[in-house]
Amino acid sequence: MTKILVTGANGQLGNELNKLSPGYANWQFTFTDVDVLDITDLASLQRFCDKNKFDFIINCAAYTAVDKAETEIGLAIKINRDAVKNLVLAAADCNAILIHVSTDYVFDGKACMPYLEDHPIAPQSIYGKTKAEGEAEALKYGRSIIIRTAWLYSTFGNNFVKTMLRLGSERNELKVIYDQIGSPTYAEDLAVAILSIISQTENGEVKSGVYHFSNEGVASWYDFAWEIINYVHLNCIVKPIETKDYPLPAKRPSYSVFNKTKIKSTFSIEIPYWKTSLYKCLNELINSK
Ligand SMILES: NC(=O)c1ccc[n+]([C@@H]2O[C@H](COP(=O)([O-])OP(=O)(O)OC[C@H]3O[C@@H](n4cnc5c(N)ncnc54)[C@H](OP(=O)(O)O)[C@@H]3O)[C@@H](O)[C@H]2O)c1
Repeated sequence: MTKILVTGANGQLGNELNKLSPGYANWQFTFTDVDVLDITDLASLQRFCDKNKFDFIINCAAYTAVDKAETEIGLAIKINRDAVKNLVLAAADCNAILIHVSTDYVFDGKACMPYLEDHPIAPQSIYGKTKAEGEAEALKYGRSIIIRTAWLYSTFGNNFVKTMLRLGSERNELKVIYDQIGSPTYAEDLAVAILSIISQTENGEVKSGVYHFSNEGVASWYDFAWEIINYVHLNCIVKPIETKDYPLPAKRPSYSVFNKTKIKSTFSIEIPYWKTSLYKCLNELINSK
């Protein structure tokens, strides 16, 4: 039986994997978060992996507070870089394949064509820098698959979709940035892709390296907000503003669109259009009320 460890399981992506896991009866999942398994603690991590002999480790754990990272630098480094080094050591001990998740923030956002995996990285924030360093640690291990994603949302946790739903029901008008472009990504779709990669890797070659994954299509945060507010018929006007009019501590890439040909062709993955997945997530949120 294939044994899979999921770290950071209380987050958006970890919860989506947990939700899908009953559909994979031949696999044994172990879902952990910092309370059970702190990935910054090398000794406990190695003990845990040694005892359970995992075939795959999916690292969903991360320091994701992008603005707070600008001042909590040490903690961001510990979780996003040093803990990935720990995961590599623990994975190597039991010969596990490491699936590590990274971010569009490793790029400077100055491109004008969708980013390929080998485009030079140039992180502009502490979060981006620590995630880039984490990627470098993961890449030192020959059995790691790194998936960069962007603009993640889910029915779980806090994210842009939930913030827009809340603010849109409290206010008559919302001002949202229109000069940052990316691809909203439903964490459920990323979880499906990760599980598909595992099923294609468990008895075959490890196609290690970096891959890009987001939903298909392109939007600004303004477009994303507009679609959310209008789909649920909230009585709120969405107005476009510029990044300079909404200053935040961490610099965001203004262009975060990925070229996803590599993941689609290597693993025969079909990726849904962003609005299709957004409506699916919104329907789930509406029906769960
Ligand atoms: N969210 C996005 O928009 C986005 C965009 C691009 C890439 N990504 C990447 O995608 C991945 C998944 O993101 P997500 O949105 O699912 O993240 P998330 O919701 O913030 O979940 C991360 C989880 O990791 C846990 N964690 C933190 N430190 C830990 C430690 N030392 N040991 C074990 N667990 C720990 C967190 O617990 P606490 O909450 O208690 O800290 C949280 O439950 C991350 O690698 C992230 O960098 C996210």
